[in-house]
Amino acid sequence: MRDIFMLRDIQDEIIRIKKEKDVCILAHSYLTHDITEIADFVGDSFALSKKAQTAPNKNVLMCGVRFMAETVKILSPEKRVYISDNCAGCPMAEQLSPDELCNMKKAEPDRKVVAYINTTAALKEHCDVCVTSSSALKIVSEMEDKKILFIPDCNLGEFIKKNVKNKDIKLINGGCPIHNRVSADDVREAKKLHPNALVLVHPECKPEVVELSDYAGSTSGIMDFAKNSDNKEFIIGTENSIVEHLMYDCPDKKFYPLSKKLICEDMKLTTISSVLNVLKAIGESDENEIVLSDEQIKKSRICIDEMLRRG
Ligand code: 13P
Ligand code: SF4
Repeated sequence: MRDIFMLRDIQDEIIRIKKEKDVCILAHSYLTHDITEIADFVGDSFALSKKAQTAPNKNVLMCGVRFMAETVKILSPEKRVYISDNCAGCPMAEQLSPDELCNMKKAEPDRKVVAYINTTAALKEHCDVCVTSSSALKIVSEMEDKKILFIPDCNLGEFIKKNVKNKDIKLINGGCPIHNRVSADDVREAKKLHPNALVLVHPECKPEVVELSDYAGSTSGIMDFAKNSDNKEFIIGTENSIVEHLMYDCPDKKFYPLSKKLICEDMKLTTISSVLNVLKAIGESDENEIVLSDEQIKKSRICIDEMLRRG
């Protein structure tokens, strides 16, 4: 009982300070429920990027990983943007260096570079258009260009290739180490245990996992599918926070994690206490502030604006 009381105390203090300091709190849906409860807006990467532009506050605290906070800064350079934990990166976002990408572009200059939004700002400077898991199929299928280099997630890339037939899409050997932990055998095992459940997975999972699923889509896509479905049981193949959120949102349905290994350690660096500490430090320390030069913002914004225009 005391623990719950302490959690409420921390949440109340967060709500008080964010009003006092004019902070908008954005949270990716991979954050835990105690954090999403105090956020002004919770969503997938695409929804968060859209929200970043319209938040009226002078400060934004992004609870998630670095590329998400960078995206907010790029879209709202006039705001001071903070990240909930300085060490929270996305391993996939850092897999390809700008130099490596520039060499690939030199080798095949006629390919348009489509970047998953899970990329660093430095890499985005060299890309033509960004996509998120919820906008990838629409954006790639509607592109006039036929020759594409898709970076860095080859699993999402395979998902796009399978669904967009009339393009020549080149992939690289990158991906999410968390979603890559799940195998086709994990899906077969989970289906055996829960034969009435539908399998909903993120397209960052391996193609053979996506192949065995009933639905593949972004975190918001998975949540919407589960909420709107008449089915009562679901096996969830993405970060396990989504299982927790769905249990709150749909108490009449049952949700099972596809694997206990689906935990993003970087997302889990942010705790309710770290949110409070970062908020307290705003105005006193710039330790968690996202700083990008005007030149970086100008160059990396081109592919994000292109995504928002097309998405
Ligand atoms: P969404 O685009 O579904 O938000 O996914 C982001 C992410 O990092 C998935 O691992
Ligand atoms: Fe990056 Fe994978 Fe974590 Fe998403 S789940 S933030 S892609 S490491």
